[in-house]
Amino acid sequence: MFLAEKQYVQWHENDRDNQARWLSESNQVPPQRIVRVDDTTTADEAYRLACEGTSMLWRGDFHNARQLLQALTRRIDRTQQRKTNKAGQAKQAVSGSAAIANLFHQQRQAQAQRAHVLSRVLLEFDAGYVSVLRRAPDVSAACSAAFGELDEPCLISLRDVQGALGAAQWREKGVPISGLDLSIHPYYGVFAPTRHEYVQLMLDAPLPAVHDVAFDIGTGTGLLAIVLAQRGVQQVLATDLNHRALACAQDNLTRLELPQVTLEQADLFPAAAPLAHLIVCNPPWLPAKPSSPLEYAVYDQGSAMLRRFLNNARAHLAPQGEVWLILSDLAEHLQLRSRETLMSWFAEAGLAVKYRLDTQPKHGRSQDATDPLFAARSAEVTSLWCLVAQA
Ligand SMILES: C[S@@+](CC[C@H](N)C(=O)[O-])C[C@H]1O[C@@H](n2cnc3c(N)ncnc32)[C@H](O)[C@@H]1O
Repeated sequence: MFLAEKQYVQWHENDRDNQARWLSESNQVPPQRIVRVDDTTTADEAYRLACEGTSMLWRGDFHNARQLLQALTRRIDRTQQRKTNKAGQAKQAVSGSAAIANLFHQQRQAQAQRAHVLSRVLLEFDAGYVSVLRRAPDVSAACSAAFGELDEPCLISLRDVQGALGAAQWREKGVPISGLDLSIHPYYGVFAPTRHEYVQLMLDAPLPAVHDVAFDIGTGTGLLAIVLAQRGVQQVLATDLNHRALACAQDNLTRLELPQVTLEQADLFPAAAPLAHLIVCNPPWLPAKPSSPLEYAVYDQGSAMLRRFLNNARAHLAPQGEVWLILSDLAEHLQLRSRETLMSWFAEAGLAVKYRLDTQPKHGRSQDATDPLFAARSAEVTSLWCLVAQA
């Protein structure tokens, strides 16, 4: 699921045909047309090339490449802002429940288009992620950590390199988790708990009377497994499909010296595990198609993972066991899933709601009145659903 086949790109430069490995974590296909650009290329020219689908291999000063990318970003954001304003006006004119869902899909398309254009500025690296560009910083540690070791030269978009550099900083500094006296160190490509209001729900929920064995399904950085271990659960089995998540969770567990948590690469539930007194899951919240593996933590097409989790949870529960499902209702406000549907899925899975704890997000996007999806984002509630086997 997360392993991609090696891909290569070809380009002609200085009367020679060249080839290099193509690395794109955001799933951009290998570019068909690559031209050489440098400090003499204007932002308008680069924007025109990027919009018509031509990729640009940067041969000038590294810092100028960053400035060019900023100039491209300003141009595409201006263009998209104009389109968004028009779409917002159209939404007001066409009221109705489908309008907000359409707006959400349009926003995702716009984001994909933006990523497409901005990934057109390419850098060449040798097998050790070293660039010969003037004033190029040392990105080898950040790129090796994000994309893995290489044994051949490659082309990567400057945008992906910046993503790797940003991730390396998060990984080193950590994200302080309010409510817990600790920081979590996220890795590249792993769900970063930057908005973690649901941790307080995990601290407020009363543990089942017997809570020796718990599962954390889709552990990401290991955050919820860590909460459970800190609350006194003796054996926590945490799973994820993403190998980066498992490496990241292991790092966090080692830093915090929590040997009671065991990690396993698994699709949902751990294999050959005892029945659990508590099963915790914070699944991807939005039923929409992920556009790259980096989005598997956020989007769950057709709520497939959520439904499989619910349908199989009961079989893994010990008597009097509980499921704690962490879920935001943003999908409901975006008209992507209804509350009635969610309740019917609980019932079909043989689960009943014992209680629910709610919290309201305070992150920047929920307060941004200029966001076309503000009505949905500002109304969002994140819940911990405590589910038990139906009598
Ligand atoms: C929203 S993130 C939650 C991460 C972490 N539990 C937290 O609360 O910060 C969802 C996680 O589920 C993982 N995931 C998605 N589908 C999965 C599956 N079928 N089996 C196991 N893990 C899965 C993703 O890789 C991601 O790490």
